[in-house]
Amino acid sequence: MALATLPGGTFSLAEDLTVTRMGYGAMQLAGPHVFGPPADRDAAVAVLREAVQLGITHIDTADFYGPHVTNQIIREALHPYPDELHIVTKVGALRDADGGWPRARAPEQLRAQVHDNLRNLGLDVLDVVNLRVGGGPDGHSPEPGSIAEPFTTLAQLQQEGLIKYLGISTVHAGQVAEAQSIAPVVCVQNLYNVAHRGDDDLIDSLAAQGTAYVPYFPLGGFSPLQSRTLESVATCLGTTPMAVALAWLLRRSPNILLIPGTSSVAHLRDNVAAAGLALPEDELAELNTIAA
Ligand SMILES: NC(=O)c1ccc[n+]([C@@H]2O[C@H](COP(=O)([O-])OP(=O)(O)OC[C@H]3O[C@@H](n4cnc5c(N)ncnc54)[C@H](OP(=O)(O)O)[C@@H]3O)[C@@H](O)[C@H]2O)c1
Repeated sequence: MALATLPGGTFSLAEDLTVTRMGYGAMQLAGPHVFGPPADRDAAVAVLREAVQLGITHIDTADFYGPHVTNQIIREALHPYPDELHIVTKVGALRDADGGWPRARAPEQLRAQVHDNLRNLGLDVLDVVNLRVGGGPDGHSPEPGSIAEPFTTLAQLQQEGLIKYLGISTVHAGQVAEAQSIAPVVCVQNLYNVAHRGDDDLIDSLAAQGTAYVPYFPLGGFSPLQSRTLESVATCLGTTPMAVALAWLLRRSPNILLIPGTSSVAHLRDNVAAAGLALPEDELAELNTIAA
């Protein structure tokens, strides 16, 4: 695998943890609504193998995708894992029988989820585990309150050697600072894209600290990004709104790591190519008006 050849280059989350800024989010590999198996398991395996083949060294997952299904497909497709590949997972929720996502942040629940991830991925130690917090009506908004208890539990699991590095997800700046007072935080994963820019200040402050910011829903997630400006810039550059949205994120800050999700090899290739799209200053200025 040639680390430097992917557009966007690499980012070091820690001395021994460098990933390509162009990564891959595995959530789309489970069945509809991220529940149950995919219609075509071989296709899911093919997407993962293509991601690694293209040089991607950062895969984002969770054992509650499926549940268990996505991690089991990752293991089937890629185990034994190449040394360069880093799988980042998250804990803090479960799935109920209806496909709901109840939170699960009690110490024994977090411990069980770490072991579920280890078992289903076929690993002895997890590279990075994000504590998934947040909630709200959409499930993707930070909520007020302390995260000290669950994050301390993860820090203990880290000290036990089950986790190398810790991150947090769907949090506000105060919770980032609280977590950092308990144990080092190598990445923050929140909802952010060219049309949803509530974390601009947080991104800049994490960049100053050398901490990675990993936007989820970079393409809008379950509701694809819709913006006339995005469309017109894409038309002007002879590409797609998706490509522009990804290129804009890479350009936004050097600590931003991309994990666009797709269940399609063709889309995966498009997304990797998009990371190499150069955005001229005029188009960049236009894009920056979207969420102004
Ligand atoms: N921390 C958290 O709470 C949290 C929450 C949500 C997601 N995540 C992570 O973030 C990752 C990214 O989020 P996401 O997958 O939900 O949303 P996303 O990357 O914003 O968008 C994925 C959607 O875009 C489509 N797509 C991808 N590439 C495309 C292309 N080139 N052309 C047209 N359509 C394209 C996919 O459909 P196709 O399958 O048809 O390509 C899928 O419907 C997830 O995979 C997951 O790992 C984390």
